[in-house]
Amino acid sequence: MDIVQKIKELKTARKAVIMAHNYTLAEVQDIADYTGDSLELARIAARCQAEVIVLCGVRFMAETAKILSPEAIVLHPAPESGCPMADMADAAGVRKYKEAHPDTLLIAYVNTTAATKKEVDLCCTSGNAEKIVSALPSGQKVMFLPDANLGGNLVKKLSRPMELWHGCCPIHDRITPEDIALARKSHPQAVVMVHPECKVEVTSLADHALSTGGMLQLVRQSSAREFVVGTEIGILHRMRKENPDKIFYPLDSNPVCEDMKKITLEKILEVLQDLSCRVELDAETVARARKPIEKMLELSK
Ligand code: 13P
Ligand code: SF4
Repeated sequence: MDIVQKIKELKTARKAVIMAHNYTLAEVQDIADYTGDSLELARIAARCQAEVIVLCGVRFMAETAKILSPEAIVLHPAPESGCPMADMADAAGVRKYKEAHPDTLLIAYVNTTAATKKEVDLCCTSGNAEKIVSALPSGQKVMFLPDANLGGNLVKKLSRPMELWHGCCPIHDRITPEDIALARKSHPQAVVMVHPECKVEVTSLADHALSTGGMLQLVRQSSAREFVVGTEIGILHRMRKENPDKIFYPLDSNPVCEDMKKITLEKILEVLQDLSCRVELDAETVARARKPIEKMLELSK
């Protein structure tokens, strides 16, 4: 029996569901019951009734699934797969900031650890950040963490001052205005999409700055035939699969998130076999980290 068949059989026996982020390996996306961006995966986890969730993505995504579905056994097949940006806002540093700025509202991008989420007022993802920030009273002081690029893009687009933490996604931060200029020159007919984790100088040159889910939706609805995809290359698999009549160009710099690629079929099979690599969070962390995520889900309905 091949590995895909083994995973499918074991998944049924374990009453498990497999969720995969849009950046994971093609074969991982293909075996998943649900594929999505951070917001879509959080929404699915919040209403999931499965006994076991296999979360294929980086650690903060697996933690979010556990926080929203604490009764389920949540398995993260590559526990070493973290998000470097999430590690740029450590809980102690955020707590210290909060103590020094008691009148400032803390908004955490969902790309944060569970320990950091415990300290903040509200979460957002790239898929709902505009909606969440727009819902805040105009005079409210805000610290946006950890992504200074996403935060900077929001400040510009919404004309809404916010203090920004000094974090970024190393993969998206490396994308340059020259990458976009080169892509436009090579593909003059194409619609140019980038992720809002890119610098303001980059997003301002693109036609759209969207979450990975937003990009997939735009491609589905657009009458254009060609698209430049300014984000991690894993998303190209789903774009091409769902839109066989359209053409997608990655940036020449080929952005890859190595952490997302650590989830393999072999590791998924292994965790389903022995229910290993469980995400364990104490009850206090679940209760406190859940509040800003639930507020986010409520505000982004
Ligand atoms: P999305 O929520 O847009 O999928 O982004 C998650 C992420 O980690 C982007 O780098
Ligand atoms: Fe984190 Fe960037 Fe990888 Fe997304 S692409 S998981 S933000 S390192």
